[in-house]
Amino acid sequence: MSSSIDYFGDGPIFENKELLQISHLPEDDDDIIGREGELKSLGRALRPALDGNTPNNVFLYGKTGTGKSLCSKFISRQLVREASDNDVHVGYAYVDCLQDSTETQAVRNAGTQLNHAGQTGVSIPETGISTAAYYKRLWNVIDDLYDVAIIILDEVDKLENDSVLMQLSRAAESEKLQDGKVATIAISNKIRYKEKLNERVKSSLCEVDYVFPPYDATQLRQILEARSDAFADGVIEDGVIPKVAALAAREHGDARKAIDILRFAGEIAEKQGDSTVDEEHVEQAQEREEQNRLSELISKSPPHSQQVLLALAFQVQQAPEGTPEVPNTDVYEMYRQLCEQDGLSPLKQRRVRDILSELEFLSIIEQDRRGRGKGKGGYTVNQLLDDPELVVKACQAAKD
Ligand SMILES: Nc1ncnc2c1ncn2[C@@H]1O[C@H](COP(=O)(O)OP(=O)(O)O)[C@@H](O)[C@H]1O
Ligand SMILES: [Mg+2]
Repeated sequence: MSSSIDYFGDGPIFENKELLQISHLPEDDDDIIGREGELKSLGRALRPALDGNTPNNVFLYGKTGTGKSLCSKFISRQLVREASDNDVHVGYAYVDCLQDSTETQAVRNAGTQLNHAGQTGVSIPETGISTAAYYKRLWNVIDDLYDVAIIILDEVDKLENDSVLMQLSRAAESEKLQDGKVATIAISNKIRYKEKLNERVKSSLCEVDYVFPPYDATQLRQILEARSDAFADGVIEDGVIPKVAALAAREHGDARKAIDILRFAGEIAEKQGDSTVDEEHVEQAQEREEQNRLSELISKSPPHSQQVLLALAFQVQQAPEGTPEVPNTDVYEMYRQLCEQDGLSPLKQRRVRDILSELEFLSIIEQDRRGRGKGKGGYTVNQLLDDPELVVKACQAAKD
């Protein structure tokens, strides 16, 4: 019997929300958009592993949300599968160095992922053994189970020091491994990270390197469309995906941002009890994403970067009108005052200049060169990409 009252409301907004999780790894290569060239280059670098030989160590570099993590996991999984068709045993471990930033944590995690205790009889305990012992167990596991092991070190710049890189690059030459081989895929979004590496580590770790460029609006739209099965049929209104793609492309070309905005839009619609997702939900979602991204980026930055950013935000707030451009020297002056207030000893001007260019790379600020006239040299001006109030809030939250 039908009733005139709709007791149950509409169906849910999401049908398979997992597709919108950032860590989701698509099964089908059609769902990876605009990265065929990068995947093929990675494939060529890793190719020797298909015959049980040592592949090239790879260094990947690019802004956030350009598909670095996704492509390295995808190609590694593919390599494991194709090698196994040749009867070659390849394994891979994915280490997020933001989570596992000490040498011990990183080595332990790689060991745990690669180990099958039932086959090797090796146990990799949480605690209670030395770093050297973790290495030893890792080498044993690799020798026992694999022809080649790939270790992905994501956000490698977050490692407390170079030791892991040093050990991994040496493992091949020294007698640490009997007949297993090991190679790394190191990933970073820090411009100067590679330059700063010790020469030996650099030459062995960065045998090949690739830069991942940001996506344009069309690619972002395709990425989102490939995930639209996350929603129940007919739930997303027509203008939604193009709008999300346009917003994400305009600011950063960041696929993570695009996917987050779409997911948030769905969550907002769900919470408001609406039966479809529309462009208004997208606008609210964008605000929420901006706040989230900022506080996450800022909380992950070192204290002096936060202080420099705060200094810029204060200068922008004090500026008269329009979109103010703040010269490096003014940022520095404010930064020095803030350090004084907090009883911190300020970094040199040069370091602050480096921090500002790192912030630009993270798409928190934008920089431009201005000339002073012929032969008089130039200077750099800085603009905030986000609302200064949001930035101040996020910096202050990170301090508490
Ligand atoms: N080319 C692409 N096709 C489909 N999804 C993508 C693509 N690039 C990135 N994504 C998705 O966007 C999000 C961010 O990508 P990620 O690989 O984490 O970027 P990065 O490591 O460069 O910061 C992930 O959920 C990822 O699956
Ligand atoms: Mg990543």
